Amino acid sequence: MKKILITGATGQIGTELTMKLRQLYGSDNVIATNIRKHEDNPIVNGDPFELLDVRDYSRFFELATKYNIDTIIHLAAFLSATAEKKPLLAWDLNMGGLLNGLEVARELNCQFFTPSSIGAFGPSTEKNNTPQDTIQRPNTMYGINKVAGELLCDYYYNKYGVDTRGLRFPGLISSVALPGGGTTDYAVHIYYEALMNRSYTSYLKSDTFMDMMYMPDAINSIIKLMEANPDQLKHRNAYNVSAMSFSPEMIANAIKKHIPDFEIHYEIDEKRQSIADSWPNSIDSTCATEEWGFHSVYDLDQMTQDMIIKVKKKLNL
Ligand code: SER
Repeated sequence: MKKILITGATGQIGTELTMKLRQLYGSDNVIATNIRKHEDNPIVNGDPFELLDVRDYSRFFELATKYNIDTIIHLAAFLSATAEKKPLLAWDLNMGGLLNGLEVARELNCQFFTPSSIGAFGPSTEKNNTPQDTIQRPNTMYGINKVAGELLCDYYYNKYGVDTRGLRFPGLISSVALPGGGTTDYAVHIYYEALMNRSYTSYLKSDTFMDMMYMPDAINSIIKLMEANPDQLKHRNAYNVSAMSFSPEMIANAIKKHIPDFEIHYEIDEKRQSIADSWPNSIDSTCATEEWGFHSVYDLDQMTQDMIIKVKKKLNL
């Protein structure tokens, strides 16, 4: 990774990843792109930023050529709940954008990263300690996009030798940029509401378990995978990675250790509940650890402590 182009750079992952990559590789070597310029986002001013709708192949190719890009980190996509509301648009953006990114990578011989997700599993998948290689029959548009995406990346690697790499991310929790349109978003919003209002109403049932990871671990895992020796990567486009598995009740209890009068209430959103119910309770990340040394640092309590400090500061509380 010497000259990197990031799509969806003002999103939840992109914002922190862009900041970290600029520290590591130099600001001029990390070109942030997004369909809109969010003026309040810390990455859009000063350092290279370009508007890019990833469905526009010519613009994608033009920017990659202009900056002499050797690495594409493709993050622009709809998350699960939005994709379920707008399935055709999700197909267009999630698949069309990915295909364009892969074509640019093939044309210009770039290394390529795109995230998959726990959403690539479905109701017929083993729910606990979900193996690396298992049944993948998701019943959401997002999940269908993710499985097709994993396969498409495999295809570009096998057929054209593009150095594609990817991770099946769990829900990501972060304090810098908010997530949007995901099923796991509650695990971010709960901290803001706990600090502002001492109360949070969960749209998922109290005992809904899903995998999660704190953003610093997610960012480090992307960089570690991208820098790993390619000879070690047998499952290169779809590594299970997780740091913790918890339910709304468990995260509420972790928050109560810091904010004792915090209360959680439940008002279930059937649509997001059914998405969550179709996903694993916990996935097995052993393969990522064995093939390229994946590890995470933060557990639920360490993450909660850090989130409370950072979100409190952000909200000036
Ligand atoms: N965080 C994503 C979502 O909830 C899952 O990959 O859609």
